Amino acid sequence: MTSDAANDRRPRADPPAPGQRVIVFDTTMRDGEQSPGASMSIDEKLELAKILEDMRVDVIEAGFPIASNGDFEAVRRISQMVTESTVCGLARAGAADIERCAEAIGPAARGRIHTFISTSPQHRDHILRMSAGEVVEAVHASVTLARNLCGDVEWSAQDATRTERDMLRRCVEAAIRAGAGTINIPDTVGFTYPDEYAAIFRDLIENVPGADGVVFSTHCHNDLGLAVANSLAGVQAGARQVEVAINGIGERAGNAALEEVVMALKVRADRLPFPTGVRTEHITRASRYVSAITGFPVQFNKAIVGKNAFAHEAGIHQDGMLKNAQTYEIMRPEDVGQGGSNLVMGKHSGRHAFREKLRALGYDLGQNALNEAFGRFKDLADKKKTIYDDDIVALVDDALSRGAERIQVKSLRVVSGTEGPPQARLTLVVDGVEAAAVATGDGPVDAVFNAIRQIAPHAAVLRLFQVHAVTEGADAQAQVSVRLEEDGSIATGQSADTDTLTASATAYVNALNNLISRQEKAPPEPLRKLNSNG
Ligand code: KIV
Ligand code: ZN
Repeated sequence: MTSDAANDRRPRADPPAPGQRVIVFDTTMRDGEQSPGASMSIDEKLELAKILEDMRVDVIEAGFPIASNGDFEAVRRISQMVTESTVCGLARAGAADIERCAEAIGPAARGRIHTFISTSPQHRDHILRMSAGEVVEAVHASVTLARNLCGDVEWSAQDATRTERDMLRRCVEAAIRAGAGTINIPDTVGFTYPDEYAAIFRDLIENVPGADGVVFSTHCHNDLGLAVANSLAGVQAGARQVEVAINGIGERAGNAALEEVVMALKVRADRLPFPTGVRTEHITRASRYVSAITGFPVQFNKAIVGKNAFAHEAGIHQDGMLKNAQTYEIMRPEDVGQGGSNLVMGKHSGRHAFREKLRALGYDLGQNALNEAFGRFKDLADKKKTIYDDDIVALVDDALSRGAERIQVKSLRVVSGTEGPPQARLTLVVDGVEAAAVATGDGPVDAVFNAIRQIAPHAAVLRLFQVHAVTEGADAQAQVSVRLEEDGSIATGQSADTDTLTASATAYVNALNNLISRQEKAPPEPLRKLNSNG
């Protein structure tokens, strides 16, 4: 699936000259995937890469190739598919990491190796057990090797903000001398204050030889809720790349949120006159997709993409908005892809109107996918009088996030209430063969999941079960997310249905299908995440 702009291959703006444009580097699939439980399948990553490319993100960090076969494969396949954005892979300072990364990004039209090493005393002493001098040498050696394999190399100083200033200057100088084109200064532990972060950039830009020929980058974690403020402070001080993630996902408290940094630069261009190339009307679509595939809900009051971000409840605010939207609105919902079309959908809506609605919501499905989605829409319209935009988004994202379906739900009947234990009567189709079971449980959902386990025995452990109503009203669809884990391999499944138990059964089965296909493609490896510390 691509958005309506997928075929629009007009040349992008020239690569930004330092000082003019801010490069947007998305790390949702690398640092974002390091959030506990936020694992994505290869198919989901490919879909997300298309969304990011359509959105005109400059650099897509697609994974950490040496971490697992799955990460390698994801980076390689995204490199084969993406033509406009730069595709980047992460590598530690060792030769094995850098060579594996170069292999993964090999097919990319524009590839980048992002290599890093810790520079702070805490990490040097306790993780690397290397002296400051040895770290500086490793910076030079690793960037030199990366440059021999790829023309575009980014170097990061992990835990830069807790590094002695002189040591940081020496490392940055070594990286520039060895040929790094981008120098990233991560606030790895989310510890810094905006004025301190800005001072680091000013110091490096003023004092390190060769600094005027490279792009400096921010990478801020949100442990103190300062990631966006710090990223903007970095830009104010001369950084011209921001590393961000959709919905702010990432290690621990997450990374700076792409949507917040980009919109802050757009809305307050009077303060920071450095545009990004991002097509901001694609933001909501990207946010919803990331939320659907990770199972991480977006908090209602989240800036830019929260359900309430443009809702005006207080009477005085509503009155002002009716008189003039500028009274309480600093940006329009359409600017970030919320709202859009006023077409109300229902039972009598035809295929053409449905396609138009999908376009307005940022989807451009191929004929088969459109037919399938339209069929599901009609089924829903039989059960629900008014179909809201959110219903359609849930329905399409549900279909898009499904992997190969070795197991399918054929029928389900659940009896529950105050009289006796809940009972689920379930029929699944497993590899084309029907199988049925009856099970009880500590509640109807437990009974349904027990029935699935009876028919398709597996060792996976349920890590997340989450339900939320897609819209308001008693006939709202329930959107269910299920996360399963087996041997360190994690898979998520979603489903939306007006029947919460049917959605639960289907979400569980989807998660199981995703887990099976992940294990078939890439045997789970215990070394996930190595010592990246994110
Ligand atoms: O937070 C961090 O330091 C990182 C690096 C690997 C860039 O994610
Ligand atoms: Zn990080």
